[in-house]
Amino acid sequence: MRQKIVAGNWKMNNNAKETKQLIKGIKKSIKKLPLENTRVLVAPTFVNLAKAVKRVKKSNVEVVAQNMHQSKNGAFTGEISADMLQSIGISTVILGHSERRSVFGETAAVLQEKVTAAIQNNMEIIFCFGEMLEDRKSNNHFKVVENQLKNSIFHLEARDWEHVILAYEPVWAIGTGETASPEQAQEMHAFIRNLLKETYNNEVSENTSILYGGSVKPANAKEIFSKPDVDGGLIGGAALKSEDFTAIIKAI
Ligand code: PGA
Repeated sequence: MRQKIVAGNWKMNNNAKETKQLIKGIKKSIKKLPLENTRVLVAPTFVNLAKAVKRVKKSNVEVVAQNMHQSKNGAFTGEISADMLQSIGISTVILGHSERRSVFGETAAVLQEKVTAAIQNNMEIIFCFGEMLEDRKSNNHFKVVENQLKNSIFHLEARDWEHVILAYEPVWAIGTGETASPEQAQEMHAFIRNLLKETYNNEVSENTSILYGGSVKPANAKEIFSKPDVDGGLIGGAALKSEDFTAIIKAI
């Protein structure tokens, strides 16, 4: 079923102590919120995941990973497998974040392998994609987004989609303070939902949560989340302060 989701992507921020404090703050401030059909996710860095999982027990916060490798195991220095994540109680992973694509060179083909590996390992995926500024300026944003989905995730079967969350993140809005307008977000989300319908069926289209990401803040969250095809947000900078993150959760 389509769910409302607010996910905090902490990126390379927060050491062990800061992770503990931020989780404590979030747990405390959302404790009394009526979070029906709403999931709250946080993605700390790898080294802090295992403890974070323990800290969120008996709360409505879930811990997810920021990335994983596509192989089962082997000579991949510095990498983490699906099995390793599962073994510490993590069953959701963010894949395809624009920083993984642009800074670490993850290609569409590699992402396709990661998506396959995640599904084979019964992991849930938060799949990120989104156009660059030049794509939007040249009016190619729909085509770019369509290709990103076609090349890395549309090989899945319809039944796999109950384990997929999509996150549309226009690259020009990530960490820049510039947000897509609620109308731009809605327009793209409706386009994606229609693609899901054409590629799969009505059920996949209606049941898949599509998050928006890119400079979501307490001040703009409500308007973005009010759009019918926006099911929540993937939050970077504003997820690092429990008051801001909580205000964004309240906006959903
Ligand atoms: P931002 O990051 O909210 O800091 O723009 C979003 C993201 O990268 O997921």
